[in-house]
Amino acid sequence: MAENKWDAQRYAQNARFVSNLGMPVVELLAPVSGESILDLGCGDGALTAKLAALGVHVFGIDSSQSMITAAAQRGLPVALADMHDFHLNRIFDAVFTNAVLHWTQDIHATVASVQRHLHAGGRFVGEFGGFGNIAAIATAIRAAVELEGAPQPTFSWYYPTPSEFKAVLDAHGFDTISIELIPRPTPLPTGMSGWLRTFAQPFGDGLPAEVQERILDRAVTLLQPALQDKEGNWVADYVRLRFHAVQRPAISGA
Ligand code: BEZ
Repeated sequence: MAENKWDAQRYAQNARFVSNLGMPVVELLAPVSGESILDLGCGDGALTAKLAALGVHVFGIDSSQSMITAAAQRGLPVALADMHDFHLNRIFDAVFTNAVLHWTQDIHATVASVQRHLHAGGRFVGEFGGFGNIAAIATAIRAAVELEGAPQPTFSWYYPTPSEFKAVLDAHGFDTISIELIPRPTPLPTGMSGWLRTFAQPFGDGLPAEVQERILDRAVTLLQPALQDKEGNWVADYVRLRFHAVQRPAISGA
């Protein structure tokens, strides 16, 4: 992930809903006071702070310096680290992750890193974009780019089906306790334009600013009938993949 992509202030303005909607995942994690939990992709620490308030010994990692600075300002123990290959020299009772795994460029490397940081029997619990996530939004961007005669962007988001992700977990020694796709139309406080500016920058990479603006405006127009209600409120067509996995005990003598 490009380091400068995540500005904590802009993210808080356009995407505070990401952490606000993360509480059901915290409930699935069922944190217990005194246990140690790694927040993988902690962002500005909004959910990490909620875990800490429950008496959990939290540690957060994120690949954005801006986010890590914002999380540290909350007084949280955090470190800059890449989800694909991190080495923290300690292990945890659980790894928690919200709205992060869809950014991975290599899910096997990411889950292998998680696995290395868990006690035997440790929990890996989280939520991220699943199969079908933002299908309408991505299609509208592609159509707007096509109408402009510009090269198609490569979106490399990882949106697996439950069976695909279960197979990844299994390959890294996790038993899946629960896994489900949850369609979750998500209100966008700063509208579709705010969302596209925060999250979908690759659509305009290398194009002149005025072409980017035209693509953005056209994508917004194309999406209006599907994702804006009559009062002008926007939702994003999010589909979440929520999972709870547990590290399998190593077979002795193996
Ligand atoms: C998501 O949370 O599903 C998401 C966020 C940004 C870009 C794409 C998807």
